[in-house]
Amino acid sequence: MREKLLETEKKALAELKEIQDQASLERFRISYLGKKGVLTTIMKGLGRLDPAQRPVIGKLANEIKQRLTAHYEEALEKMKAGSAGEAASFDVTLPGREPVYGHLHPITQTIREVCHIFEKMGFRVVKGPNVELDYYNFEALNIPKDHPARDMQDTFYISENVVLRTHTSPMQVRVMEAQKPPVSVIAPGKVYRRDSDVSHTPMFHQVEGLLVDRDVTFGQLKGTLTAFVREMFGKGTALRFRPSFFPFTEPSAEVDIGCVICGGKGCRTCGQTGWIEILGSGMVDPEVYGFVDYDPEVYSGFAFGMGMERIAMLKYGIDDIQLFFKNDMRFLRQF
Ligand code: PHE
Repeated sequence: MREKLLETEKKALAELKEIQDQASLERFRISYLGKKGVLTTIMKGLGRLDPAQRPVIGKLANEIKQRLTAHYEEALEKMKAGSAGEAASFDVTLPGREPVYGHLHPITQTIREVCHIFEKMGFRVVKGPNVELDYYNFEALNIPKDHPARDMQDTFYISENVVLRTHTSPMQVRVMEAQKPPVSVIAPGKVYRRDSDVSHTPMFHQVEGLLVDRDVTFGQLKGTLTAFVREMFGKGTALRFRPSFFPFTEPSAEVDIGCVICGGKGCRTCGQTGWIEILGSGMVDPEVYGFVDYDPEVYSGFAFGMGMERIAMLKYGIDDIQLFFKNDMRFLRQF
């Protein structure tokens, strides 16, 4: 019995030495010192001993239990101090590591800035689908199936009557279909064309504008766009309206601004003309009113559409449109 007790103590101490974590330490306590532990079990067997031996062995068993308890408590203290020590080694006075802040993409910033300018003039922002019916993208904009104007906007077809929209102009039709005049909306979003070079990407962004009411004039179109250009590019920016053609506006005009790169003297960017085209516009063609059930005798309006990449390139002096979509952080961080 004596041998068994001493053997148990030796084994317990050896085990205790190896213990590294609190959970194992607790398991140690239960298996040696607990109510159903090894020592308690041995002591319960005392009754079977020779009465003369009982006090001696009982005393030894108690001593061993006390010694093991002391060792166990010491180990527990050490472990607690250990984890507290770890916390203390962390210097709370060190400056924090600042997270890297991101920001909006330059195109998103440009879209928001443009929309904000028009919102201040009373336009409401609306959004529509990128995957569009041929009907809204072409047909209802007075561009029938065999119209040559379709060649200018070579399209990604999903199926015969479903396309990736080539411009934001379908929103003109969708908005007029859904509400009666007065209408004044601005529609930003992605558009798609089969184009790719230094000034074209297959996906780019446009902002469309539409205003329809009684007695809307071409003068109001000019005033609205002039106010926009002055706010976007600065008060002194030169602009001109150049006659143009779109199947859904009549008359139509393209707007050029004085080249921001050379100040109008003529350079590579403006093709030596001193002017850069920024948008298409015009008075809504009465044909379009026919598709949305507006009376062309009562209502008139204007529309315009502009490319956001072009606007951003001019505003920030960027000469390659592809940069916007390469996700090169050296480029993007500058905005
Ligand atoms: N949708 C035309 C384009 O993408 C631009 C435009 C919009 C022209 C509205 C006139 C009126 O080229």
